[in-house]
Amino acid sequence: MQNKNPRQTQSLTTSSSAETMAHTLPLLPYGYDALEPYISQEIMVLHHTKHHQTYVNALNAAEASYAKSSTPKERIALQAALKFNGGGHINHSLFWKNLAPSAAVNKGTGGVLKDGPLKTAIVESFGSLENLQKEFNATTAAIQGSGWGWLGVNPSTKRLEITTTANQDPLLSHVPIIGVDIWEHAFYLQYKNVKADYLTAIWNVINFEEAELRYAEAVGTSKL
Ligand SMILES: [Fe+2]
Repeated sequence: MQNKNPRQTQSLTTSSSAETMAHTLPLLPYGYDALEPYISQEIMVLHHTKHHQTYVNALNAAEASYAKSSTPKERIALQAALKFNGGGHINHSLFWKNLAPSAAVNKGTGGVLKDGPLKTAIVESFGSLENLQKEFNATTAAIQGSGWGWLGVNPSTKRLEITTTANQDPLLSHVPIIGVDIWEHAFYLQYKNVKADYLTAIWNVINFEEAELRYAEAVGTSKL
């Protein structure tokens, strides 16, 4: 159920085509129960093995159809499926990595923002981490229907901003630093209709170390 290497993206599925590089479900960088008590094992198992896997399968199917299509009309007809399932795959792949077992229950480093460039930028844009969380939760709680909440870097100003996307639209206007799944499938089994409690809880398992790496890349200070 667990993989040892957080950066590993081995497949849980096998590609049936040697011609195309099929997308595969990335393994989680932690166990399914590792985010408890903030996100239950039941949610994680279903979210990863059912929901994310479905986006992967549907994306592969849409891409295979696209490859076989011979007319503009056929290709246009596939755009919605490519966007929805491609976005679902991209967003969930980011989401798993920006979560980590919580320091608050001595399981890991989740929820801890250390001193560094990201913290400095958060203070600069929001005044404090607490203010960021308050603003982020208010903005994402207001999403009507399904979508994603984002902390992203504005590529023009290089400043951190909070934004949202609808459905499975990936974040294109900003470089994503932290993304939170606001679909009911991400929280309903545990938090029922109380989205605010899910949003409060999730900050305990945010992987700020991953966010720090993404921030460094976004503002061009990455040593890679
Ligand atoms: Fe999801």
